[in-house]
Amino acid sequence: MSEQKIHFHDMHPTANDLLEDVITGLQKSPRSIPPKYFYDEKGSQLFDQITELEDYYPARTEIKILQECKQDIVGLLNKGCMLIEPGGGSCSKVRIFVNELRPKMYVPMDISKQHMLDSAEQMSKEIPWLDIHAVCNDFTFKLVLPEGLPDTARVVFFPGSSIGNFHPQAAVQYLSDIASLVEESGQLLIGVDLKKNKNILERAYDDSKGVTAKFNMNMLTRLNNELSADFDLQAWNHYSFYNSEQGRIEMHLKSMCEQVVCIDNHEFYFAENETIHTENSYKYTIEEFQSLGVEAGLCAEKVWVDDDNLFSVHLFSVKSK
Ligand code: AVI
Repeated sequence: MSEQKIHFHDMHPTANDLLEDVITGLQKSPRSIPPKYFYDEKGSQLFDQITELEDYYPARTEIKILQECKQDIVGLLNKGCMLIEPGGGSCSKVRIFVNELRPKMYVPMDISKQHMLDSAEQMSKEIPWLDIHAVCNDFTFKLVLPEGLPDTARVVFFPGSSIGNFHPQAAVQYLSDIASLVEESGQLLIGVDLKKNKNILERAYDDSKGVTAKFNMNMLTRLNNELSADFDLQAWNHYSFYNSEQGRIEMHLKSMCEQVVCIDNHEFYFAENETIHTENSYKYTIEEFQSLGVEAGLCAEKVWVDDDNLFSVHLFSVKSK
């Protein structure tokens, strides 16, 4: 019988946090809910659909860069490494280069357990030689590896411009956490969405098929299902725009009328047009992002960009102290 190639490590990320985080966020002014709560099973499926939309250029552009520059990228990465992918619940982009890189093991991390398990199992069937350690954790909060993994050079792969969902200061902290995780011999390969024409940006976050709207609205469905909240879905709308001063797309849920919503003995009054801020997606120039990396103790090695300057893939190493 062949050796077991897929291992699962559950760090139980969400059990107690959802209610507390939602109540705290809705009591703030302006009101907000952390974007990590988009990703229940339905939300993860909707996000996968977003990445296939024509309007959502980041996913397909990053894939094109990874495909076209694969030889160059793989040539610079540590062979036989432990390849760690925070947010790797779909195990999709890593397939582009995993056969050439031949990592010693692949460690996807995601908050959405079933979604990650299904993808990891599928990947294990397709790439039977690959040792997969799937970790269910809140990778946005703390980057910790399960105990007992072998000591080998570490490479973090953080695609999709997920770093853009952090405030720039928090991004520096997160990048420095990555630097600590990979240590001196380690590397970071990271996808970062670039600043560009406002219309292209706004279309990507309010697509013509309405999938992003469904993704945003699913947050309320989740709160109704899991916290017995009583959001009337007809009374809310998806609302997003590019805030050029802050260099970010903002996503909100907008109340279409004056209303009161109950969640676990708490009552929240919403005025007409009041919003719940659900996500920021920061956009950077290449230089801006490289400076964040340097601030975090990383060393910019190389950057790949598509012909239309829509998206960038950066390689960083860890600076020796
Ligand atoms: C996961 N993250 C990088 C996506 C983004 O583009 O900020 C999330 C997303 N929100 C709406 N569309 C996609």
